[in-house]
Amino acid sequence: MLNEQLRRRLQAMPKAELHIHIEGSLEPELIFELAQRNGISLAYPSVEALRQAYDFTDLQSFLDIYYAGASVLLTEQDFYDMTAAYLRRAAADNVRHAEIFFDPQTHTARGVPFGTAINGIWRACQEGPISASLIMCFLRHLPEEDALATLEQALPHRDKLIGVGLDSSEVGHPPEKFARVFERARELGLHLVAHAGEEGPPAYIDSALDVLHVERIDHGVRCLDDPQLVQRLARERMALTVCPLSNIKLRVFDVMGSHNLRRLLDAGLAATVNSDDPAYFGGYVNANYLAAFEALPLDERHARQLAVNSFEAAFLDADSKRAFLDEVEAFFAPV
Ligand code: ADE
Ligand code: ZN
Repeated sequence: MLNEQLRRRLQAMPKAELHIHIEGSLEPELIFELAQRNGISLAYPSVEALRQAYDFTDLQSFLDIYYAGASVLLTEQDFYDMTAAYLRRAAADNVRHAEIFFDPQTHTARGVPFGTAINGIWRACQEGPISASLIMCFLRHLPEEDALATLEQALPHRDKLIGVGLDSSEVGHPPEKFARVFERARELGLHLVAHAGEEGPPAYIDSALDVLHVERIDHGVRCLDDPQLVQRLARERMALTVCPLSNIKLRVFDVMGSHNLRRLLDAGLAATVNSDDPAYFGGYVNANYLAAFEALPLDERHARQLAVNSFEAAFLDADSKRAFLDEVEAFFAPV
C-alpha cells in the first residue's frame, strides 16, 4: 500500500532493470517519426489510433502489434535513437544499470543486417547516461536452426553481448527446442536467460533450468503452481524478472490486486521488478513499482529487497555489484 513517502522512495531508489525489450520501448510517436523518416506507410492513421490498438487479449495479440511496430527500424541511426530514448527514460527512473534485450531475427528477417541493429543499439549504450549491456534473444516461434544461424551472425560482435535469451510465443515452444543453441552460447561464455512461466506451465521453468542451464528466469510467475519448483527456485536463489504491468496487459492476472509479486517474495524467491515493453504496457520501471505497491500489501522492506535483488541478479562484475548494493544500503539507511 502506497503513501507519499513510499512513492518517493520507490521512484528515487537506485535500481537495475533486467527485463526490457528495446523494441518494446519504441513509443508510438517515435514509430511515426521513423516511419516518416524511412518512407514507410503505417496501418494506423495517427499516433492516437496506434495507441488505441494497444488493447491486448494475450501474449500473441501483443506480439503481432509489437513486430509490426519494429518494422520502422531500418538504419543504425534508428536503432541508436530508440535505445538512447530508453536510456534517458530509465535514468529518469533512477535505473543505474540496464540489461537490454534485443530481437535480431525481427530485423534480419526484413533484410536489415545484424550489424545495423546491434551497432546502433550498442553505440547508444556506450554513451550512457547509465550502465547498460546487451542480451540477444532468440525468437522461439522460429526453428532452432534460425537461432543457430543468428548466433553465428553474432560472432563478430561477441564482445558487445553479455548473454542470450529466449522470447516470443511461449506455449508450444518449450525450452528443449533450443537446447543446442544454448549449449553453443554457453561454450562462448555468454550468460543465459529465458522467458519461462509467463503463459507457459511451470514445467517450462524446470526445463529452462535443467536443459538450457539459464541463470535467470524471465517472468516465471507461474512457478507458484508447483510447490516443489518454488522450493528449488528459493534454494538456488534463482532470480525471476517479474513485469507487473505486462502481466496485467497480457492478462496473465486479471487485476494488479491479484498479482503474485508479494507471494513470490514471501516464498523467499529473488523476484525483481521490470518493465518488459514499456511503450506498450503503460509505463517504465517506476510505473511498474508504483502500480504493484499501490495494489498489493508491499512496504518499504519489500522496496529495499527488490532493489537489492535487482543488483544481485545482474550480470555485473563483483566490484560494480558491490558498489551498487552499497548505494542501495546507503539509500535505505536510517538518518
Ligand atoms: N517479446 C517482447 N515482450 C515479450 C514478452 N513479454 N514475452 C515474450 N516475448 C516477448
Ligand atoms: Zn519479456
